[in-house]
Order: sequence, then C-alpha cells, then structure tokens
Amino acid sequence: MSINYCEKERVFTLQTQNATYQMIVDSHGYLLHCYYGAKIERQNLSYCIQPQDRGFAANPPDAAGDRTLSPDTLPQEYSTFGVGDFRESCLDVRDKNGGVAADLRYGSYRIYPGKKPLNGLPAAYGNEKDVDTLEIDLRDEVSGLVVTLRYSVFAQWDVIARSAEIFNRGTGVLILERALSCCLDEPVPASRDILTFYGRHMGERNLERMPLRHGKFRVDSMRGASSPHYNPFVILCDSAATETAGNCWAFSLVYSGNFIAQAEVDQIDTLRFVMGIAPQNFSWELKPGASFQAPEVLLCFSDYGFDALSNRLNGFQMQHLVRGKYRTERCPILVNNWEATYFDFDEERLLALAREAKEVGIEMLVLDDGWFGERNDDTTSLGDWFVNRQKLPDGLAGFGAKLRALGLQFGLWFEPEMVSPISCLMEQHPDWCLHIPGRENVTSRSQCVLDMGLSAVQEYLFERMSGLIREAKLAYIKWDMNRSITNARSMALPPHRQGEVWHRYILGVYALLERLLNAFPQLLIESCASGGGRYDAGMLYYSPQVWASDNTDAVDRLKIQYGNSFGFPMKTMGSHVSVCPNHQTGRTAPLETRALTAMCGSFGYEMDLTQLSDVEKKQIKAQIELFKHQWQLHQLGEYHRLTDAQNDRWFTAWQVVSEDKSVALVQLVLLAPRANAPVLSVRLRGLQEDAVYEDDGGTRYTGAALMKAGLALPPMRGDYSSIQIEFQRLL
Ligand code: GLA
Repeated sequence: MSINYCEKERVFTLQTQNATYQMIVDSHGYLLHCYYGAKIERQNLSYCIQPQDRGFAANPPDAAGDRTLSPDTLPQEYSTFGVGDFRESCLDVRDKNGGVAADLRYGSYRIYPGKKPLNGLPAAYGNEKDVDTLEIDLRDEVSGLVVTLRYSVFAQWDVIARSAEIFNRGTGVLILERALSCCLDEPVPASRDILTFYGRHMGERNLERMPLRHGKFRVDSMRGASSPHYNPFVILCDSAATETAGNCWAFSLVYSGNFIAQAEVDQIDTLRFVMGIAPQNFSWELKPGASFQAPEVLLCFSDYGFDALSNRLNGFQMQHLVRGKYRTERCPILVNNWEATYFDFDEERLLALAREAKEVGIEMLVLDDGWFGERNDDTTSLGDWFVNRQKLPDGLAGFGAKLRALGLQFGLWFEPEMVSPISCLMEQHPDWCLHIPGRENVTSRSQCVLDMGLSAVQEYLFERMSGLIREAKLAYIKWDMNRSITNARSMALPPHRQGEVWHRYILGVYALLERLLNAFPQLLIESCASGGGRYDAGMLYYSPQVWASDNTDAVDRLKIQYGNSFGFPMKTMGSHVSVCPNHQTGRTAPLETRALTAMCGSFGYEMDLTQLSDVEKKQIKAQIELFKHQWQLHQLGEYHRLTDAQNDRWFTAWQVVSEDKSVALVQLVLLAPRANAPVLSVRLRGLQEDAVYEDDGGTRYTGAALMKAGLALPPMRGDYSSIQIEFQRLL
C-alpha cells in the first residue's frame, strides 16, 4: 500500500517509486503540508513546519493567545479565504448572510485500493493493483461545508492524482465563488523556477522558464477552452534543474475550460502553487445536500530532471488516462483534404485524392470542413450537419461506400460546439447560442457558440452526429473548436447563476463526447481547436489523437512538438506531411524531413497527392512502409529531447528508445548548414550501458560510449536536410 496513516502522529504519507508526499493534522485540526519531493522513508517531516509569531498574523478563535498559530503562515493542504490566510485561496464560499469564509478542519479519512471516477469529468483511471486512494474530509462547522480531498497514488509512475469535492451538508444555500483543485505549499524556502507553455494559433506550446520571485505568477485562460495562449500544464523545478538532473514537479489539469495555474512566493519566502478552474466569472450554487466536483490535477515528480519527468507523466497518461483501442494500437495513417482542397472540392476531386492515397499505402481519408449545409467558405452553415448533395451527390453514405470499395476508411470533420449566424440552426433556435439579451453577439471567424450546457443542444448534436457516424460508417471524427467564447450567458439559468455557464459548457462537451464514445466504442476522435488550442489532459481522456497545430511547416513543428513532449505523449500528437512551399510559412523543406518530423506523432498526410511526381510517390510509399515498421518505437517508446529545439540554431535532434532498450532511433534536422563546420555530435540517452549497439551502417558502439562520448556524425549539407540512424542492440 502506497498510503500510510500514522494514527499516533496524525501523519499521512504517500509513497511512490521515487517520491514522498506528506501531510499532518495539527493539534487544532489544520491539515498541513509537510513535504513533496524525493523519496524519504520512515520520517515524520513535520519538523519542516516551524510555527512562529510572524507579527500581526491572523489567529483563529481557538488559538487561545498562541500567536504562532496562523493559517497565513502555515502550509495548507487546501487554502480558504476569510479566516486569516491572505495568500491565494482555493475556496471562497459565500453564505446566506453574504459573508465569505470557510474554516476547514480535519474530520475523517478513508484509504482504499483503486480509484473512483469523477462525476462528469475526465480523470485518470486504474484498478486495485495500479492505484491506492486516500480521501480526507475537512469540515467547516459553521456552514456545514465538507471538502473531500482525494489523492490517488499511482506509485509505479510517480503520479498522484489530486482533486477536491465540495459538499453542502448544512441547511442554507452556499455559493462557491471559487473552487480550485489543489494547493501545494512548501513549508521551507527553496529557489524555484517555473516552466510554462505559451503560444498562439500556429505557434503553440513555446516553453518559457523563469525564476519565481515574491508575488504571484499566473497563467490562465478565460477563453472557454484551455487555449493555445497558455496551457494548463506547468512544471516547477529547482533553479539548477536540467533535462537530466534536479528535482522537478509537473502539474497537469485534467480539464479543458477556463483555468488558472499560479505560483506565489510570500513574505517568508515560501511557495504556494494552486491550480484549477479560473475563479473569474465563476460561481456555483450549492444547495443543501448538493456537491461540486473540482477537476483533477496530475502531479508527477522526478529527481532526475525533465527527461525522466516527461517520460513518467507521458507513459502514465498512455496507461491511465487515454482510453480505447488506440491507446495501444496504431492510429490509421490518414490523408486529410484540408490543405489539398480547402473548401473547393466535389466527390470526383475527393475520389481522385483517395485513389492516390490508396496507391501509396494510406489507410483513411478525412473529409474536412465544407461538406455540409451551404458551406463554401467559413462564413455560414455551422450547425447544419446535413450533407451538401451538390458536392456529394450520393450523400456521406454513398461517398463512404466508395472509399471503402477503394480500401480506405472514412473520417469526417465536425465543429459541434458552433453555429453560424447564417444557418438554418440559428434561424430555428436562436436561443441555443450563448448570448446576452439586448447585446449583439461578438463573432469570431464569423461564428457563434452553442450553449453546450443545454440538454436540447446536446440531444440535437448527438442525434445528428450519431446518425452520420452510423450512416456513413465513420471510423474517425475530427472534433474542431475554432473560437474563444464570449457572451457567455445561458437561457437555462437565472441571472444569479450565470457564473455556472463556463463550467456547464465544458461539462456539456464532455457529456456529448462520452455519449458518442459509449455508442461507438471503436470511433477515433481527433480533438482540434484551431490546431492545438485545446490540447490538455482533459481532452486526452476522449481523444487519443490531438491535432497539434494548423502550422504544418516541418521546421516550426520541431518547436511545437518539442514543447508538447514535456506534458503530452507523442502518440497523441496529430502530425501531417504537407506540401512545399508550406502554406503557412512559405518555407521549403525536403520531403524526407517533413516525414521524419511527422513520424514523431500520429502520422498522416495533408496535401494534394494527385499533384505528386512519380519520384515523390515512391518516396511517400517508402515513408509509409517505414512508419508501419517503426511506429511502436516512435509512439510507445521513451522519448528524449537531445537538444533545446526552442533555441537551436544549427540543428535539432531527438531520440526514441524501445521499452526494453533493444532499439533506438536518433533523428536530426539541420536548421542552418555551416561551411567547414565543427563535428556534429549528440549524446544519446536511455540505452543499456554495457550492451553493444550496431547502427544501420554496421558500426558498433557500447551503450556507455553513445551516452557518454556521444555519437559523432559526418558533415551534413543542405537546408533542413535530416538524418535518421537506427541502433539495434546485439544479443
Ligand atoms: C481549423 C482546423 C483546421 C481545419 C479548419 C477547417 O482551423 O484547425 O485543421 O480543419 O479549421 O475550417
């Protein structure tokens, strides 16, 4: 059992393979945080908590003159507002008198093997062998509020899944004005950096690292989706941590809506980290007997730098978050018609693309935007999920049958959450879209947002989508979401409850995804939000594949995929080979390099295959063969960032290694060729030191040599040329 409670000392200790997390219930019933870091056994770590009279700190009524007792300076496990803790709170509760306060004290605990699902929300899962769960109830005597903190310990992966459920066990209505998921207070000062992943449309997931200073540093989203701008995944680390050394802690919110992640260094140099649903414009009415479930946060720890941290967290997500057959199976190699045709297609053009696709070994055709209503550009028809017979005279069923006759599977694009102002749906149900009466809607990409919290909207979408999935025998859908939310007001809620709209929206999205997956367990859903705008752990629960960016430029993708690799498994990263000059950047890179980059993720093509030369067709055929042979290594192996892709100027390199360390692949892209260049070398990782590896040219090296002396490569020439070297361990 990875969880221990020492009754005598009132200490809870969670042990994973390499980490320890400890809390204590103090004599006043505060649940205090002692430690989270590298593994320590048989030790009460509460000595780290040193209560002192900090001068004018607030003392609770039961302090009885003890000025060292203050929620403001003690490391809290779940912070609340209104009773003397002036740092960032997790919980603001307003009672019927209008007062905001919750004084949480220890009530009871439960420990059990396994883990329960979270009501209506995505969450990590595991059986009794994989995970143990600790539940601790904290109570506010005055209001009757009970907070259940849950800690599910996946010891093998160094992951603890934390969440909080808030119950109203009192007699009056309570209003939650914030309900975050987790708080982590470090009792002793430490010098910490934070790594965040900022970005923009077509430039997602840029890593930024900065030292934490006094005050609050926050990333967040109020866009209704987790957004490309900031991601709900951050890392805290020792200021000296590197890829291969130092303590680091990952925090990944299993949620796809508005969020905050915030680190605060206070007046006594201690750190508080909080994460959860963004409190801005959030409120939730909690009637007596009701409860509110805050989303889960995945905490992962490594004392060997970011490389080990990513591999643990990403391995964990593939085992205990991603679901369905594509967790372990290869996703079909697809061609998507978006960059091939945009809106300009008919059945003949698509079938020509399909025939070429089949010829080179592609397995599925994905029909992107433009197949429905009157949609010939992006200004109309979202919501009208009825086929356009001018483009597809035999409907989707007829077109799908033709694809299957060619030996291809059929995938289809939807943007379910949206409605165009010019559409039949808007005409029939103007109230189904989020809007504020008397105020004209703000549009974005000429579209409005449906109120996904409405059951009528969910019913309509389920009926339309499931009908089409069945009729056209779809193997895949691309679920897009192409705008941020404004005018967030629902007709289903009274004015004083409009703070619930944002969260109810995302619960509605999750409910529809879940319903579709229940109805079609074999369906592959690729999540997309103008590219990687909703790439988060929440979506991974429904989508084993996420379109990483609308930027398909292979060289830009090196950076995007590098950023993603810190917190998201490579297998989940939708990645396509596109045409040159690239449509987003105008850059030209060799076809091999475009394929090598795309093979890091869920591989596919997004180009007009009918325009290929015979030589290119041959190359593509070979690429597909190679990927079919290597996919397990790329997608399920350990991934090592060998260079800092974000700042590389000369070349970018990475490596994958099979789980049993018997095969490794080094891949390298030359960013800027140099004349009379220094020797190009990289140090490999994750090999067996004493084993002998042979590369594809027959040269032999020990694992130790490749990892310590490194691999030295012959000079490379040419813009964006690339190389891939495979190493096989000899028996
Ligand atoms: C978004 C997606 C693209 C494509 C278009 C279609 O931008 O990210 O891949 O599907 O929508 O309109």
